[in-house]
Amino acid sequence: MPLVTSKEILQAALEGHFAVGAFNANNMEQVQAIVDAALEERAPVILQVSQGAIRYAGLEFAAAMVKAAAAEADVPVVLHLDHGTDFDQNIRCLRAGFTSLMYDGSKAPYEENVAVTSRVAHIAHVCGIPVEAELGRVLQAADGVTDEEVRAAMTDPAQARDFVERTGCDTLAIACGSVHAMQSAEAELDIERIKAIHAAIPETPLVLHGSSGVKEESEVEAIKHGISKINVATMLNQAFTRALRESLAAFPPEESDPRKYLLASRDAVKEVVRHKMRLFGSSGTVTSSGFVSPATTHRTADIGGTEA
Ligand code: G3H
Ligand code: ZN
Repeated sequence: MPLVTSKEILQAALEGHFAVGAFNANNMEQVQAIVDAALEERAPVILQVSQGAIRYAGLEFAAAMVKAAAAEADVPVVLHLDHGTDFDQNIRCLRAGFTSLMYDGSKAPYEENVAVTSRVAHIAHVCGIPVEAELGRVLQAADGVTDEEVRAAMTDPAQARDFVERTGCDTLAIACGSVHAMQSAEAELDIERIKAIHAAIPETPLVLHGSSGVKEESEVEAIKHGISKINVATMLNQAFTRALRESLAAFPPEESDPRKYLLASRDAVKEVVRHKMRLFGSSGTVTSSGFVSPATTHRTADIGGTEA
């Protein structure tokens, strides 16, 4: 089916108390793994293109891979720009057919973040495309951040309300205890802060970034309080590379067909994505007609198995 926008599936997630996984893909095998997982789980899915993926594959090529995979799928697939750097890049993605945008002005002063996010949202909405914005800052593990720095960068609930009212953004990425690109799931989210932000902007689906470093119990708790989109990147790369190393070691050195090695990587990524879809409660929310079930009630997340 054609790509869908993130608007309808994230509203359904917010109302149904589940979260839609937003998975980063850098190559064909990762795109296929993510869409195959969505088909097997009957889950809506967001494929997102990061700044690194744009540098690696090119914007048009990255978009084309997702569109090709979505065209063959009978579950809703969204093509999302992850951490859009500026106004111009968002417009390029609109032209390239992205069905969900992000402007990340979290490093900019507040008024500049408001101004650019509003401009992006205005133009995107004319084209029927929703926009994610970021308030507070989700820091990078590579910068060696301390707990104090993570806390100081967290989103302020009152400011979140002002921000959403003034910008018209559709979803809000919040800083609530996670850090990008952690190598293991150790972080606990600040659930009280998530509750306060959700109370301040109850109709805005909240986005969790840096989920690879977050304990699964904490993710499940966050979903109960308004987190409706969860970004997953690092743990997919870990699964891909681990499987690649294993298959390189398993085959004789004279085996030169890369497909034989990459099959294992694709399967490994698919299993992680399936596990996360079950954890987030999005599995089984797509009906046979291809829409996210509006009747989804509070779902019990499956936190069994942490093999990811
Ligand atoms: O925008 C992408 C994410 O926030 C992914 O974070 O690499 O820690 O899973 P992660
Ligand atoms: Zn992120």
